[in-house]
Amino acid sequence: AKEPVRVLVTGAAGQIGYALVPMIARGVMLGPDQPVILHMLDIPPAAEALNGVKMELVDAAFPLLKGVVATTDVVEACTGVNIAVMVGGFPRKEGMERKDVMSKNVSIYKSQASALEQHAAPNCKVLVVANPANTNALILKEFAPSIPAKNITALTRLDHNRALGQISERLNVQVCDVKNVIIWGNHSSTQYPDVNHATVKTPSGEKPVRELVKDDAWLNGEFITTVQQRGAAIIKARKLSSALSAASSACDHIRDWVLGTPEGTWVSMGVYSDGSYNVPAGVIYSFPVTCKNGEWTIVQGLAIDELSRKKLDLTGAELCEEKELAYSCLS
Ligand code: NAI
Repeated sequence: AKEPVRVLVTGAAGQIGYALVPMIARGVMLGPDQPVILHMLDIPPAAEALNGVKMELVDAAFPLLKGVVATTDVVEACTGVNIAVMVGGFPRKEGMERKDVMSKNVSIYKSQASALEQHAAPNCKVLVVANPANTNALILKEFAPSIPAKNITALTRLDHNRALGQISERLNVQVCDVKNVIIWGNHSSTQYPDVNHATVKTPSGEKPVRELVKDDAWLNGEFITTVQQRGAAIIKARKLSSALSAASSACDHIRDWVLGTPEGTWVSMGVYSDGSYNVPAGVIYSFPVTCKNGEWTIVQGLAIDELSRKKLDLTGAELCEEKELAYSCLS
């Protein structure tokens, strides 16, 4: 039998946490034959709710779930974890300045970085979900220098999946037949959902999305803004932000990272930029990646047209600006 994998979920008493932990315990993240031990962290005001989640995990009698640690102690939460999904953070409240929100999250991610660095299992893989996701991940990377930069990532898979969903709806095809969209840049409204290399499986072979949609105005306009603003549309409809789709995408992100992407398919991940495609280096930027043997590689050599170039640069500039703001909170 396989040894259990320890998976940390921070902010586990929150909305995404509530959707995510049962998925992990069911094998959605790591596969149906991989036992797991869940580590759940939240802050003291949420301790009672967190314990309630633990009670429900016991009640659900998940065969793969070999243990649950529910705690408000960061060290206990981080000890021995192989995978860390960072969902906990400080949300922007009405009337708050961006700098104030950034400052709260910088201090959270700085201290959790140290705890992970000192107590997580070697080669722990980290996924940051909490916003500002890319910059929280960057802070985590900076303050956990002994964790390899390639092990620290941010979630843009939800945006990637949203783009697949929009194309599938528009063309009235199965979402599983659409692939290779790209989310470039920041998980924010400046992100660039790019369909220039996306294809659809049809009875007569794989066809480019642009050729099938036959409406560049839609693809260059409404499609992009719909994906960029989908989060706000969900809040308007649900009066709560996306949780089930965020949790599901977090599972997709880790699963593909650990188990590999299918041949001929790439996915989007926020990773530490090496300056590929002439975007800024040293920020967590979302790229198209393939994964094999537990490691991601940026897909190289894709043609970038003029419109795309501008959008890659715009979202890159925003990330540099966020990085500066985050650093200004440190001093
Ligand atoms: P929520 O407010 O329901 O849950 C957040 C939880 O984090 C709360 O239980 C809170 O007590 C906890 N928390 C706060 N500070 C903490 C700390 N220092 N350590 C541990 N836990 C802490 O929020 P929800 O809806 O679950 O969203 C979580 C985050 O995910 C938000 O930042 C949200 O903006 C972000 N998000 C990111 C997405 C992405 O695609 N990257 C998609 C959707 C949401």
